[in-house]
Amino acid sequence: MLKGKRILLVVAGGIAAFKALELIRRLRERGAAVRCVLTEAGAKFVTPLSLQALSEDRVYGDMFSLTDESEMGHIQLSRDADLLVVVPATADLLARMAAGLANDLASTVLLATDKPVLVAPAMNVRMWTHAATVANVETLKRRGIHFVGPTEGAMACNEFGPGRMSEAAEIADAIERLVAPAARPLAGRRAVVTSGPTREAIDPVRYISNHSSGKQGHAIAAALAALGAEVTLVSGPVAIADPPGVKTVAVESADQMLAACQQAGRVDIAVCAAAVADWKVARPTGAKIKKKPGAPPPGLELTPNPDILATLSKPGAGRPALVVGFAAETEAVVANAIDKRQRKGCDWIVANDVSPATGTFGGDRNTVHLVSAAGVEDWPTLAKDEVARRLAGRIALHFAQPPKAEAAE
Ligand SMILES: Cc1cc2nc3c(=O)[nH]c(=O)nc-3n(C[C@H](O)[C@H](O)[C@H](O)COP(=O)(O)O)c2cc1C
Repeated sequence: MLKGKRILLVVAGGIAAFKALELIRRLRERGAAVRCVLTEAGAKFVTPLSLQALSEDRVYGDMFSLTDESEMGHIQLSRDADLLVVVPATADLLARMAAGLANDLASTVLLATDKPVLVAPAMNVRMWTHAATVANVETLKRRGIHFVGPTEGAMACNEFGPGRMSEAAEIADAIERLVAPAARPLAGRRAVVTSGPTREAIDPVRYISNHSSGKQGHAIAAALAALGAEVTLVSGPVAIADPPGVKTVAVESADQMLAACQQAGRVDIAVCAAAVADWKVARPTGAKIKKKPGAPPPGLELTPNPDILATLSKPGAGRPALVVGFAAETEAVVANAIDKRQRKGCDWIVANDVSPATGTFGGDRNTVHLVSAAGVEDWPTLAKDEVARRLAGRIALHFAQPPKAEAAE
């Protein structure tokens, strides 16, 4: 599964360093070549000899080694790797990475690399929750550093809480997701995903909107990106973070959302998960509408918004190969979705019941039905992340099938 992949493993000075030994075994079982960089503190916890014996390669640690620098150099170490992995990532090393320090071989290699970096933090719960570490982790995540763990559990320091390093198998899985091409079946595909509500201005301070949280659309964007797609997420105003690995374009109105989708350029996949307002105010005022004593409330004249799903589904040279719409319904969910698929001309509809009793709007779970030309699939109630992963998996399968099988759908 990791055949031919080269992992540069940075082993730092934490109690969990012993798990690096197990990780090397797991990675080698999966076919990867592992080369280790050991920090000075790391060498207090595991010996270079153990790392060398398990990796069957030299262990690097000294930045000023004349032989290492003449033969290979700190830059070459990262050039030769597909992925850099820090196990365990100590609070100190995370701080050095966030600050851009290069005061030992490990931090220099991590600063000098343009390869993906995965870190597996491990530390005392108070170190992990300290504002300094929290800020460093946020900085590193923003820069695209990948994290696995930490998990919650009993620690060597006789405390309990988040800070425990993920187990070797879990770290190996995370490594595989990052570097194994088989896990990226949508590599080379481009996708646009819409998410969240739209806001239609009444005047400069008031608007018409809906309860969409963006959780489902954002999760779909992340899931498609995780499978290798290049994703543009066009999001209405939401209170959740932009998903990692995705280009997010923030919009407010349906008009802006459509324009952003069209500006995303040619895509293979369009997933319209946003709850787009069907109508907008015909003539929003430039100044705040004032309440006048004794005067009746102003009437709101509405006019239809552009139909983003129907527009993207229009046959033509630029049409995405697969257009997926969402149908948020409060009654006759499946019947309405079947009708909507035909009216809009899209390929699939993900139908969900958004009646208040279901808790779908704003909640973390969703019960959906996938409607295609082949029929209707009823999916069980799942976490929105899991709905997203399944949908992304189905999309990957769709593109993996020969065209004939697709047409028969
Ligand atoms: C017994 C012992 C256990 C330690 N465990 C951890 C740990 O789990 N996580 C951590 O961030 N630091 C831990 N430290 C502190 C680090 O070893 C120290 O910050 C060191 O400078 C880290 O260097 P490095 O990041 O270059 O490996 C521990 C120190 C000692 C003495």
